Amino acid sequence: MKRTEAEKKIHKLVSELNHHNYLYYVKNDPDISDYDFDQLLKELESLENEFPELILPISPTQKVGKDITKEFTQTKHLYPMLSLDNTYSEEEIVEFDNRVQKILERKVDYVCELKFDGISISITYVDGVFTKAVTRGDGVIGDDVTANVKTIRSLPLKLMGTNHPHNLEIRGEIYYPHAGFEKLNDEKLKKGEKPFANPRNAASGTVKTQDSSIVAKRPLALFSYYLMSSEKKLNSQSENLELLKSWGLPVSDSSCLCKDIKEIMDFIHLWDQKRSMLPFDIDGIVLKVNNVEDQEELGFTSKYPRWAISYKFKAERKSTELVSIQYQVGRTGAITPVANLMPVFLAGTTVKRASLHNADVINELDLHAHDHVFIEKGGEIIPKIVGVDKSKREENSAKIEFTKICPECKSNLIRKEGEAAYYCPNEKECPPQIKGRIEHFISKKALNINSLGEGKIDLLFNNNLVKTPADLYKLKYEDLIGLEKKVDSGKKVSLKEKSVNNILKGVEDSKTISFAKVLFGLGIRFVGETVAKKLVKHFKTIDNIITAQYEDIITVDEIGEKIANSLIQWCSDKENILLIDNLRPYVQFEDTTEQEKESNSPINQKTFVISGTFDLSRDLIKQKIEENGGKISSSISKKTDYLVAGEKIGPSKLKKAEDLKTKIISLEALKEIIKFD
Ligand code: IVH
Repeated sequence: MKRTEAEKKIHKLVSELNHHNYLYYVKNDPDISDYDFDQLLKELESLENEFPELILPISPTQKVGKDITKEFTQTKHLYPMLSLDNTYSEEEIVEFDNRVQKILERKVDYVCELKFDGISISITYVDGVFTKAVTRGDGVIGDDVTANVKTIRSLPLKLMGTNHPHNLEIRGEIYYPHAGFEKLNDEKLKKGEKPFANPRNAASGTVKTQDSSIVAKRPLALFSYYLMSSEKKLNSQSENLELLKSWGLPVSDSSCLCKDIKEIMDFIHLWDQKRSMLPFDIDGIVLKVNNVEDQEELGFTSKYPRWAISYKFKAERKSTELVSIQYQVGRTGAITPVANLMPVFLAGTTVKRASLHNADVINELDLHAHDHVFIEKGGEIIPKIVGVDKSKREENSAKIEFTKICPECKSNLIRKEGEAAYYCPNEKECPPQIKGRIEHFISKKALNINSLGEGKIDLLFNNNLVKTPADLYKLKYEDLIGLEKKVDSGKKVSLKEKSVNNILKGVEDSKTISFAKVLFGLGIRFVGETVAKKLVKHFKTIDNIITAQYEDIITVDEIGEKIANSLIQWCSDKENILLIDNLRPYVQFEDTTEQEKESNSPINQKTFVISGTFDLSRDLIKQKIEENGGKISSSISKKTDYLVAGEKIGPSKLKKAEDLKTKIISLEALKEIIKFD
């Protein structure tokens, strides 16, 4: 490949991978399978190897991925939490073994373990007592999720036995067992909430839930697989697993000490076959050099231990018959084809439907009626059709032609230039589009009215109570009480006092939601959360946005042609302006948050010095002070109003503050003054 071509490709891959990383790590909502992701990553790695001068600083190969959510206290790991090198190829496992033997110049034993598909966790025990649990985060700093992890039933809060080191860190995987996962998703669907795509996301979402009483109700489970302590001589991984077990920690019984490559391959093949019978997900096996001294000799690269590797299984694949195609209409009018299938058991659940994404996918598959199709589970909730078994095709079976009309409102569909999706243009009258816009408006990242969900919006729409988000603010108790809806069993249920009050309270509470979230909630094409924040920061009010010219809009940081055109088009529609006018009396259309916060703040214009060590990152403390109108200075002087003193603060700083009668406060006291945690 030529350099210019490679450069283009690298840019494309980096941006694609970063997007998938974001969906996976931050949103917990991936839209491609792990296998597809790893293939893209490998393609990038090989291009970067060939053209090292083209490596971008933002390349996913230059970092280990982040999953920090800002709500939790961030904590630095004592030892970085590295990930494992991985492969889908048996040959590379053989190469790994050869490499290890070559470096050590001797044969070694390996411990083969299951690779549990959950979220990795670091757990600290002090004198045998559980004290802290921190997520992997970016490998260096993670989220302190102690309160949540503490609720895991199989986790001992005090270790058994007596011979534990004073300070002990264990690493393991928190996972969501299949049985609990199906139940959780059923409950979510009943409440009209979006189900988790897979048990890993359920585990991750649960561990990062803010309310630990909710976590306690969920059946999270744990396997521990690694232990670290500077106080105890550790001999081998197999002994370490025994030690963990003897301390009462949950350790899988499936690990196996293997003395050669044949035994390793047997272990891989055994579990590739048996994994569908396990009550939890695994996505591969992990191979670890058993002897700790050997491990130490092999050491680490910047990202991985050289003494371990994971072999990842390819996604499970099944064949089944296509029964029919159903077309779904989304909030934006985009039509998604979904295949109804003969039910088939795949990777832990019965599959009846599979996504076909768009017309191009149907054409590429050359799908015909009643074809036998291969399905795989990727990151999505419903599996994907990955191929057609043409040997089983019926003679004269008709080729699937994409629908020309909207299944809901019968409008003729259109296809926009350069886009794969067909759209229903009837955005004003097509019911799923109307309901979709309201569902988007109430969603968590927008107005966050969680007392309403898909089911209740359906009910309100079917009873002619809401057609636009503004109608939500006109709802009255009398309108809602006793409204009847049919549930899955065919029974009718009616809205009771408690639900009605919850709905009204949710709507009321949304009136204080920030302008940026309201703007995002309007569902303007290409105006996602980040764009909404940028527009609000720049334009401050909805009227400034409505009247902004194209030239003004594209001057905003990172806002280009596509967004500007979409915004202008949206604002030129009279009905949208009417919607804004109808919402005006109720929601925030002005960005007053910062000024208000500053001028009402007790620390407005006060000068702070921060010194010592803290549980929180210094940047975060600084940010909070500045957000509240305070100023930061690096040294204490007569002008300093407060010294925020952490642990290990220098005695001379303290003395100077005392001499100058500067107020000395702890981080806890600061948190009290400006209300943050
Ligand atoms: S050992 C330094 N063992 O896989 C080595 N990891 O891709 C630490 N994982 O971040 C990891 N099962 O979350 C190890 N039996 C196992 C594992 C395992 C699952 C996860 C872990 C790690 C990731 C690496």
